[in-house]
Amino acid sequence: MPMVIAIDGPAASGKGTLAKRLAAHYGLPHLDTGLLYRAVALTVIDAGYNLDDHQAAARAASALIVDRLADPRLRERAMGDAASRISAVPAVRAALLSWQQRFAGGDDGAVLDGRDIGTVVCPNAQVKLFITAAPEERARRRHLELARRGENSPLSAILEDIVARDARDAQRSTAPLKAAADAVVLDTTALDADEAFEAARAVIDGARRH
Ligand code: C5P
Repeated sequence: MPMVIAIDGPAASGKGTLAKRLAAHYGLPHLDTGLLYRAVALTVIDAGYNLDDHQAAARAASALIVDRLADPRLRERAMGDAASRISAVPAVRAALLSWQQRFAGGDDGAVLDGRDIGTVVCPNAQVKLFITAAPEERARRRHLELARRGENSPLSAILEDIVARDARDAQRSTAPLKAAADAVVLDTTALDADEAFEAARAVIDGARRH
């Protein structure tokens, strides 16, 4: 049976970096599902609609063009917040759900990372990881990542963003951010990227032996 690895966690927890490395290691296709929500938000903004316009957001999600996922603007700080706002709209989530499930259902298996992969998108995934870290550490990592791309925001503002976004993602009624009951929780506060990768690999190899 093709292996599906579901990786969830709060903003800037390192789940994206980890998902990419695991996908390369196990030879699986990878989908960063946050990019889908970011792309919907960007489409709404570019078309001149307000982010509170739920119908515009639902239309953008239904018509999402995958080429948009390569747009570098998706990685900007403001887009994380915009994505979080439109992602609370049930019609947006419904439009993106089948797309994600088709990706996960391919013959090759897949690694998907997001907020609701283990709970909603791939409830039958063979491996579920919930990656977390202290908010201050996540803010520090995001600050470095943004600075590397030339976006210099104060650390305190990034921390505020992250805390507000997590609260919104965890409190929404449709597919909130939470660990699936059968997920392995990995706290990476004191781990570097290599250590997080090794810890995740141990979980996955253990699961494959059973
Ligand atoms: O992971 P990333 O920070 O790119 O996600 C941006 C936003 O998209 C999240 O804050 C969340 O609101 C939303 N999202 C989601 N479900 C997912 C992935 C992302 O609601 N599976």
